[in-house]
Amino acid sequence: MTILEIYTFPDPILRQKTEAVTIFNHELAETTQSMLETMYVSGGIGLAAIQAGILKQIIVIDLKSGEEEISLREPHVFINPEIVKESGTTVSEEGCLSVIEFRGEIERAEKITVEYQNVRGEAQKMDAEDMMSICLQHEIDHLNGVLFIDHLPVLKQKMVKKRLTKLAKAEA
Ligand code: CO
Repeated sequence: MTILEIYTFPDPILRQKTEAVTIFNHELAETTQSMLETMYVSGGIGLAAIQAGILKQIIVIDLKSGEEEISLREPHVFINPEIVKESGTTVSEEGCLSVIEFRGEIERAEKITVEYQNVRGEAQKMDAEDMMSICLQHEIDHLNGVLFIDHLPVLKQKMVKKRLTKLAKAEA
């Protein structure tokens, strides 16, 4: 297991296209374990492989990531996830391990149905609502090179991106 480096805005790697996973082997299982561990140490509830520079359609989510008791954690792994149904709208505050120093209100579908594969390559389906729905939509966006700040109103988006780019330059 390895703690992975997380790329942050405006790194162009976050805008790359990702590929579907076709080989379900030990290496894939190791990658998902490293992603989960990286997410836990970073204090996030979701992580897409692209955030660690791995251009594959892999997501990990654990809404109980903050629990100190490891036994209370609920890790989920989604390989090649695809939203097949969505309904309603909901607005909530989002943040991202790849977007430091900014959180913002984003509108998303309220409920979604996601088809995906588990780490063994078996087809799965999940009806998600509330936090799981929002988190899945956020992470699936990553797989398409989209960040949550891309959903902000145009003017606000420009301001935020300018500020974050300056901040990144100052820290470089
Ligand atoms: Co994110």
